[in-house]
Amino acid sequence: MTTNDSARAQIGVTGLAVMGSNIARNFARNGYTVAVHNRSVGKTDALLAEHGGDGDFVRTETVAEFVAALEKPRRALIMVKAGDATDAVIEELAEAMEPGDIIIDGGNSLYTDTIRREAALRERGLHFVGTGISGGEEGALNGPSIMPGGSVESYESLGPLLESVAAQVDGTPCCAHIGPDGAGHFVKMVHNGIEYADMQLIAEAYNLLRDALGLDVDAIADVFSEWNTGELESYLVEITAEVLRQKDARTGKPLVDVIVDAAEQKGTGRWTVKSALDLGVPVTGIAEAVFARAVSGSRDQRKAAVGLVSGDLTDKPADVEQFTEDIRRALYASKIVAYAQGFDQIRAGSIEYGWNVQPGDLATIWRGGCIIRARFLNRIKEAYENNPESTTLVVEPYFREAIEAAIDSWRRVVITATGLGIPVPAFASSLSYYDGLRAERLPAALTQGQRDFFGAHTYERVDEDGKFHTLWSGDRSEVRA
Ligand code: 6PG
Repeated sequence: MTTNDSARAQIGVTGLAVMGSNIARNFARNGYTVAVHNRSVGKTDALLAEHGGDGDFVRTETVAEFVAALEKPRRALIMVKAGDATDAVIEELAEAMEPGDIIIDGGNSLYTDTIRREAALRERGLHFVGTGISGGEEGALNGPSIMPGGSVESYESLGPLLESVAAQVDGTPCCAHIGPDGAGHFVKMVHNGIEYADMQLIAEAYNLLRDALGLDVDAIADVFSEWNTGELESYLVEITAEVLRQKDARTGKPLVDVIVDAAEQKGTGRWTVKSALDLGVPVTGIAEAVFARAVSGSRDQRKAAVGLVSGDLTDKPADVEQFTEDIRRALYASKIVAYAQGFDQIRAGSIEYGWNVQPGDLATIWRGGCIIRARFLNRIKEAYENNPESTTLVVEPYFREAIEAAIDSWRRVVITATGLGIPVPAFASSLSYYDGLRAERLPAALTQGQRDFFGAHTYERVDEDGKFHTLWSGDRSEVRA
């Protein structure tokens, strides 16, 4: 640890809560001189007292000192709560900085805020990089997955630093320039949406193992550990086993049994669905996950409804081993759908905003560091390498075959869950989405007929180009619209 003697820090971090402190330590451990700053200096001192030995830090008390400690072009990473706090810090930094300097927002900011901020700072000659950083506290310290947006020029200066602190998989850093302005925060938002879907699918699998098969929590933990040795291998499956194995010190029960069953959310999943609605992309898995959290949190309604009639329920599956394997396959197939939908949304967002996001790059940088890291991201990477213009991952050879292998199990799981009255919103809607995609004809033709009936909204014909309308309240002949 040293004091502020000259403008020699290659990077500065302001906002030293756990994520900020850990990323600052990560830069320091990788040999960078890091200027550190926090609104209350106590946090800065606590970081330096506990971890000053990690590398070369420059302690600063004021924003002016912080900015003065940075070598040019200055690179200042903001790690504060998304929203108004971010705007306030950006303004303070912008006032103290000079053209060519780079302000980086590493929080979970809404991508439209990032677009706005980037445009405003560009006017002032400053670079603004909104970057997704995934991996939680541990990732921030030891190697996160990093998704920076902003200009190519800013990436030339910043990219090497970010790449060296990111997680590495097969020698490749889990960091790549995603695209201009809000592209980085947009893909981080969708990453989180996929995270929600993945977590919901795992929760449904757990619920079925418990309620449809009657396994105890330790046995379910073993199932997840076993699954983590195969195609489902992923961070989320791995930590599921750990959470399930944890015992509550007070009661001796599994911890999961003393945690209130109401899932919270900070908002990125909800943002993903809102954006998907605007883009017209059916991210059904993510939407079901967001709504499932909302159902769990509807405590008054749940209290009022508990014990409502279930109707006749079917018997539990007799073959525990077979049904466990069915659940595993259903989980894998549903997960493929959820990721495919997330990548569809990224493609649509990229087209809408002109970002030119490379989906193969994303699959590459999500293989390590981030919360949704999973073995099968290698398969997604390969799929985009073979077909960069892929319209949907579910038709790419590996995924088509994986779903073929899972389809019977997937149906059995949804049927059995329904028969037992066990909610499986994400499993069921993923299967319905898949059935919808592969159907030759959809009942949307009827919807179009109804729209034309009550609103003269017109329809297209299967045998002739153009728009048509039936004179429903007249002689019911058809006219060209
Ligand atoms: C990550 C996580 C991280 C955060 C989520 C939690 O990629 O490291 O996604 O960003 O843990 O935002 O989100 P909820 O509180 O909404 O579940």
